[in-house]
Amino acid sequence: MDMAIRHFIDICDFDSATLKALIASARELKADGKVSGSIRVPPSTVLALMFDRPSTRTRVSFDVAMRQLGGETLVLNSGETQLGRGETIADTARVLSRYVDAMMLRTGSHSNMTELAEHAAVPVINGLTERSHPCQVMADVMTFEETRGPIEGKTVAWVGDANNVTNSWAHAAVRFNFTLRIACPNELSPDPDLLQWVKKEGGAVDVTSSPQEAADGVDAIVTDVWVSMGDKDADTRKKLLTPYRVDEKLMSGAGKDAIFMHCLPAHRGDEVTAGVIDGAQSVVFDEAENRLHAQKAILAWCFGLK
Ligand code: CP
Ligand code: NVA
Repeated sequence: MDMAIRHFIDICDFDSATLKALIASARELKADGKVSGSIRVPPSTVLALMFDRPSTRTRVSFDVAMRQLGGETLVLNSGETQLGRGETIADTARVLSRYVDAMMLRTGSHSNMTELAEHAAVPVINGLTERSHPCQVMADVMTFEETRGPIEGKTVAWVGDANNVTNSWAHAAVRFNFTLRIACPNELSPDPDLLQWVKKEGGAVDVTSSPQEAADGVDAIVTDVWVSMGDKDADTRKKLLTPYRVDEKLMSGAGKDAIFMHCLPAHRGDEVTAGVIDGAQSVVFDEAENRLHAQKAILAWCFGLK
């Protein structure tokens, strides 16, 4: 991979200073409003948005982000390109690099993401894989800090399936220096390699099977769907995860100013009650909005404008 190209693949790839600068830049861009005054891309700068999984927020927020920065986008769904007929990722990377200025990919295969970056001559941005969702968690850190102040030294509880979003939260815990408590069934626990990495980096990520223990006194409770895109064992997961539903009782065990976070889409009555997600402690729509601002900052960094 050409290290001179500014890819945004995972939070763990960056140092703390770069990540904090991205959050600061996202806040400036948010203050700018719809039309960015502080950062503009050159005319005809094009971002390709590539999907082999569905999306609402990622698709729309990247599209709008590019327009607000003065650039353009094109959406490529895998079934509509030669990728769907077996053209290789490497050749697709080489060809698209001749046309567009950056690529955002959502894929069910993390190795497709790294392969695209390996062969692209322009920046590649991770818009979710089965392993991580870094743009989401950058928006989540921004949202946490807007409502609760600096995240450094705080404690966040993840309650539910230890999935792609959890992994990016663990990367963030290490780089932004906060404690992450993960409560999940033993059968759905985080990847041992991830926990090994956290240990090596001296981070604070604790795993328990008790949601109450994880939620005790925390600054935020975060959850996500029980069945992620690509998961096949929906019935088993639902059975295992029912004790991990975030409800009013669990929220009452958190700190008194605790917020509730969820990347959306949500399933009310499964991973979270309607009372919690639609209640006063919920910041889920701020998280969704902040995808736009955080991604403008990421795009500006990728284009070398920041
Ligand atoms: N949170 C998120 O990435 O949503 P979409 O799947 O709608 O993009
Ligand atoms: N964990 C979820 C996140 C969706 C934005 C999934 O991968 O489906």
